[in-house]
Order: sequence, then structure tokens, then C-alpha cells
Amino acid sequence: MITAIFPAAGKGKRMGASFNKIFAGLSDKPILIHTLISFSRCNLVDNFVVVAAKEEVESISRVLNSMPGIKPCKVVAGGSERQYSVYNGLLAVPKETDIVLVHDAARPLITAKVIENVIDEVKSSGAAVAAVPVTSTIKVVDDNNVVTHTPKRETLWTIQTPQGFRKDILLEANEKARQENFLGTDDASIVENMGYSVKVVMGDYKNIKITSPEDLIFAEAVLGKKAV
Ligand code: CTP
Ligand code: MG
Repeated sequence: MITAIFPAAGKGKRMGASFNKIFAGLSDKPILIHTLISFSRCNLVDNFVVVAAKEEVESISRVLNSMPGIKPCKVVAGGSERQYSVYNGLLAVPKETDIVLVHDAARPLITAKVIENVIDEVKSSGAAVAAVPVTSTIKVVDDNNVVTHTPKRETLWTIQTPQGFRKDILLEANEKARQENFLGTDDASIVENMGYSVKVVMGDYKNIKITSPEDLIFAEAVLGKKAV
């Protein structure tokens, strides 16, 4: 069984709105609803766990479970960091789950093709993340703004979600990270911290995370199928 976890318990500070950005309207519906409907188009995923802010669990649960076009959905409370929210989600997945996908609620433009790429690789490797090759030159800079080096661009990928794992691997990685107080910036980094290999698979340049207001302009354009 494949279960997808959607961390949605952030504050959306960089969006600068007075509410969590996943409720922001995009085209005709909130970002969170876009994400869940898009993900529901992948037939390989059996059910969803949405991780919401504690005070929003009940209302989100009510709305999602009466909404057509969305897979069966459990809603649980998140934590103060994304990693803790994902862990809470992981503890709530049905026990028959053998593969877990973690997908940011704030990535509404996800396609079934990218989800399938991740699932295929998890089946053979145990851990895989969607990503796209970096298009800009990236420099490593020290505290004095001095460039220390320029990594070869061909070795650099921008990491997206979904990130997929065998459930036992992600659970073990989370438990080790908690013992060590290790906080990763994505789910794969805690799996890497355990010494496990993580594979990168092709994501989609359109699969952006809605972080700041300008991201909404791009997302509206994609949904409107206008050239950008
Ligand atoms: N998230 C979460 N629990 C947290 C922090 C983040 O579930 N404690 C979720 C967000 O809701 C989002 C995803 O993780 O769907 C990616 O995080 P990010 O884009 O950083 O969202 P926010 O943390 O909400 O935004 P910001 O960092 O600007 O406050
Ligand atoms: Mg954040």
C-alpha cells in the first residue's frame, strides 16, 4: 500500500499573508485542494494523510472528506518544524503501508508522471526524490560574502517533492534524527544522515513550491495554460 503524507502545518511567513498560505486562492480553489486533487490523479497512491496546524485539524478534515475527487484522507496535527510534522504524519499512516510519499501541500502543480517516477525508483532503490537539474551557476560563499568555490553545475539538482521511501527506512531515519537533534531541510537529508543512498528522479520545472507572492503569478499562468 502506498500512502502520501502532505505537510500543511506551516505558517507561510514568506508569503506575508495573515493566514497559512496553503489556504490562499489559486485560480478557483485553495492551494491545498489543488495539491490533493492533482495527487489524486495518480492511481498508484492509495490514501492520504494531511498534516495540519492543531487548531485547523477538525475543519480541514470536515472539508476534505466531503470533497469529490480526493482520495480517502486522514488529518492529523503537525509540529513546530516541517520534519516533526512529517513524523506525526508517518505515525498516522495505515499499518499496511509499505511505501510513503511526502509531498509539500504547497506544491499544487504536481503531475501524475512525476509521482510515478518517484514510486518506480522507490520500488527498486528504497528512497527517491523528484528533482530538476539546476539552470543557474551556484556559488558557495563564506560569512564575508567571499566566494569559496563554484561546484560543477552538472552535479547540482534542485530538489522537489514528492520524496518517496520505504516506510521502515523513513521511520528509522526520523527516529535517529530525533535522537541526534538533527534537523534536515528535506526528508531525504535525514535518510542520507543514516547512511542510506537516495536516488534522484526527474521532476518538473513547473512543480514549484508556492513560497512567496510571485510564485502565485507563475502558478496562475501554468493553470491558465498561458506561455510563461
Ligand atoms: N510545514 C509543516 N509544518 C511546519 C512547517 C512547514 O507541515 N512546521 C509544511 C508547509 O505547510 C508547507 C511545507 O511544509 O506545505 C513546505 O514548507 P514551507 O514552504 O517552508 O512552508 P511554511 O513553513 O509554511 O512557509 P515559511 O517557511 O515561509 O513560513
Ligand atoms: Mg518553512
